[in-house]
Amino acid sequence: MERENFGSKIGAILAAAGSAVGLGNIWRFPIETGRNGGAAFILVYIGCIILLGMPIMMSEFLIGRHTQSNTARAYQKLAPGTPWKWVGRLGVFTGFFILSYYAVVAGWTVEYALLALGNQFQGMTTKEEYERVFTDFSSDPVWPIVWLIVFILLTHFVIVRGVARGIERWSKVLMPLLFIIVAVLVVCSVSMPGAGSGVEFLLRPDFSKVTGKVVLNAMGQAFYSLSLGMGCLCTYASYFDRKTNLAKTTLQVCIIDTLIALMAGFIIFPAAAAANYGLAPQDIGPNLIFITLPNVFQHAFGAVPALAYVFSAMFYLLLIVAALTSTISMHEVVTSYMSEEFNLKRSRSALIETTLSIVLGIFCALSFGKLADWRLLDMTIFDIFDWTASNICLPVGGMFIALFTGWYLDRQLFRDEITNGGTVRAPYFKVLIFVLRYITPLLILAIILSNFGLF
Ligand code: TRP
Repeated sequence: MERENFGSKIGAILAAAGSAVGLGNIWRFPIETGRNGGAAFILVYIGCIILLGMPIMMSEFLIGRHTQSNTARAYQKLAPGTPWKWVGRLGVFTGFFILSYYAVVAGWTVEYALLALGNQFQGMTTKEEYERVFTDFSSDPVWPIVWLIVFILLTHFVIVRGVARGIERWSKVLMPLLFIIVAVLVVCSVSMPGAGSGVEFLLRPDFSKVTGKVVLNAMGQAFYSLSLGMGCLCTYASYFDRKTNLAKTTLQVCIIDTLIALMAGFIIFPAAAAANYGLAPQDIGPNLIFITLPNVFQHAFGAVPALAYVFSAMFYLLLIVAALTSTISMHEVVTSYMSEEFNLKRSRSALIETTLSIVLGIFCALSFGKLADWRLLDMTIFDIFDWTASNICLPVGGMFIALFTGWYLDRQLFRDEITNGGTVRAPYFKVLIFVLRYITPLLILAIILSNFGLF
């Protein structure tokens, strides 16, 4: 069977950036920033992007592009007969888990986009009203599930169109659109009177807040936001052509992703400050963008209801767009794995993944209502999925990827792949190998262990 490729360089970059930019940037990043102390967290986060994110992204790109296959097969090709294939399999499994809970939040964004478009927030003034809307909705046994299913089916629809006509074409439209909406929102938010203290929160670091837990969270967020550690970008890279410059693409994707996360921060915190809403720590949670923000929009533009309307509608549409290009990438990992490993038609394999994710997603959706009492260590099903996937599975996957390319993989093969057979220069080669061998894996291990109180 002829394997598809992305049709253009820009298409490949936008697809990878589309995977990286998502709810992780706009929903999760501000939450983590708020909970972990603002500017100092952002600096630790950027450190994680450079020391962990970029080397691992390069590794995923080179493994995927070299082998031109799904992530489990990729390790089998490079390391036949060894247990390395389990790194790929762990990735497929993680992808399946993340998609299931991610689609729940993605589903909420659909509800909120509709509420915003229907001007349902107008006239609501107190925090309690917004809380009620969110709690009533998220604990409802029906609607969150309906939107979850709608969202996964939307993803399914793009996936079955294939790589170039589905993933690439949609990314090329959706990503520029997303960037424009984010930019407009930042300008509006920062220029509101009283936005200053929100800006300051993001720019003035307080290092006394940096603890081991903050570093773990920053690392988890870096992996999550860059779609790393589970073979997602490895799978996309298998559709890159031989001329794609892997180092340049890595840099571009990391810059786009970090920029959008920071911009999301500059939408949310200044707007909250301007509205004089006072973000208390308990307001910063999964519900930040669903309870706090709509309220902020109404307060901030109270005098001009039309602006409040446009601002909130744009914001939630933006979230849908961002989430969709990411769910597509998670779905693709599992779909390509099943179709290539079990010799299934692409559409059949996509259908299996869609069904499984919906089933698991329903449990996550219900954990805000009917199943709220199903807890482990005080975490709901949803929290367990999120915590385990981002703080454990992704970093551990990332650590093995670094060990694989740093220690196991043939040096010459590595060099040939990142230089495209000697046609682009790679002056950073030695440094990269050193980082992959020692810095990245040890740092990940230290951060994880220290959080289990092991040293
Ligand atoms: N990076 C995406 C975001 O920021 C989410 C995502 C897509 C992801 N693919 C992934 C996270 C793979 C972890 C692993 O929203």
